Amino acid sequence: MSAVVVIGTQWGDEGKGKIVDYLAEKADVVVRYQGGNNAGHTVIVGGNEFKLHLLPSGILYNDKTCVIGNGVVIDPAVLIKEIENMQEKGIDTSNLRISNRAHVIMPYHRLLDAVEEEYRGDFKIGTTKRGIGPCYMDKNARSGIRIVDLLDEEEFSAKLERNLEAKNHLLKAVYNEEGFDFEAVKAEYLGYAEKLRPYVRDTSAVLYQAIGEGQKVLFEGAQATLLDLDHGTYPYVTSSHPIAGGACIGAGIGPSKISKVIGVVKAYTTRVGEGPFPTELLDETGEMIRKEGHEFGTTTGRPRRCGWLDACVVRYAGYVSGIDYMAITRLDILDKLKTLKICVGYKYKGEIINEFPASLKVLAEVEPVYEELTGWETDISGVRSYDELPVNARKYVERLSEVTGIQIGIVSVGPRRDQTIIIHEVF
Ligand code: GDP
Ligand code: IMO
Ligand code: MG
Repeated sequence: MSAVVVIGTQWGDEGKGKIVDYLAEKADVVVRYQGGNNAGHTVIVGGNEFKLHLLPSGILYNDKTCVIGNGVVIDPAVLIKEIENMQEKGIDTSNLRISNRAHVIMPYHRLLDAVEEEYRGDFKIGTTKRGIGPCYMDKNARSGIRIVDLLDEEEFSAKLERNLEAKNHLLKAVYNEEGFDFEAVKAEYLGYAEKLRPYVRDTSAVLYQAIGEGQKVLFEGAQATLLDLDHGTYPYVTSSHPIAGGACIGAGIGPSKISKVIGVVKAYTTRVGEGPFPTELLDETGEMIRKEGHEFGTTTGRPRRCGWLDACVVRYAGYVSGIDYMAITRLDILDKLKTLKICVGYKYKGEIINEFPASLKVLAEVEPVYEELTGWETDISGVRSYDELPVNARKYVERLSEVTGIQIGIVSVGPRRDQTIIIHEVF
């Protein structure tokens, strides 16, 4: 039995897409289990760049079953466009399976995401404004619309009518916005329903069968540990569960079926959106990392905040998700640095604290305890084996492994498939 979950350990954009694409070669099924088109996973294959938001990265191979699980929130217009874009590029999408239990992002979710952010003012979260939070709110409030409802005109009409009544009232009364027209939304979404219908399945059953037959299943996390609704830097989080446990709920499989968890760690730290970030660099080093790493959001184009590698964050991600191996990415981006720092602990009011703070007030005030290491000042993008890495590059990743207690499984030295060093096979 092989079911491997790949998750982000930091604040997202660690290179999950690249790692999943690499591992997918040996997999039979690739599954997205949470989030929506707030995710942006860039994958480079044969010199072509693909930016995936909803489709699992396995779609770039023509022979993998790709699943969008029940835990994902789907903006149908975005998904249809992504499917059509792939087809135009000659990629076969007939192996896509969409959960009948996934929730649908409606136009009022997108508008509410934008106006609620504006309303928060100085307390804004910095969301991607894709309607993710409001859609999960409706799911939890038990008023959401699922794919199975969208495919049934009568059900969909009834649910849309009830929802629009409430949402239009809220939009007008609280946010002074125009509401949405029932007939127009209904016609638009019933059009999407017909385009998606051929792909819709009970995906939990699809996965149960695949795992039972001994197929290799790869779960592709979106967002990351510190954006997890429960375990992240709440309220500066997303509204889903990116941690490994989220795969069970968001795909409808039992925990006993998961064989390994891979935590993707960017060799430094970035964050998009608001919220505390202890190792953030607001100086020329931060600027240099942003420039070297082209650290601008795939989904929104926003500049990403950059900082030193924070081992406290990765250690925390390790135990929240039971990570077996780390996949360290973008080590090559640090090639030019003379010295590097790793944060190995937090001090609060002069005392070392051992647990990752739940209080954002504390997290905002902690003082990172840094260890300084010498850089390798060598281009490592052509290195293909661990032993060939400069000794200082090895010392850097090995120190991270020591502090976090997590073994190194993969080191990535560039965005392409061949720029991947495997230390431990996961399948
Ligand atoms: P994701 O959201 O976790 O999938 O990450 P993103 O795709 O948003 O951002 C990661 C970026 O880094 C993408 O542009 C990848 O192509 C790129 N990338 C991944 N691994 C490496 C690496 O080892 N080195 C370099 N230079 N780029 C990488
Ligand atoms: P991938 O999968 C980085 C951040 C947003 C914001 C917060 C909430 O590419 O790693 P949301 O729109 O989800 O309600 O926004 O979460 N965020 C991400 N940051 N990478 C992502 O996805 C993200 N998805 C959401 O910037 O701070
Ligand atoms: Mg991303």
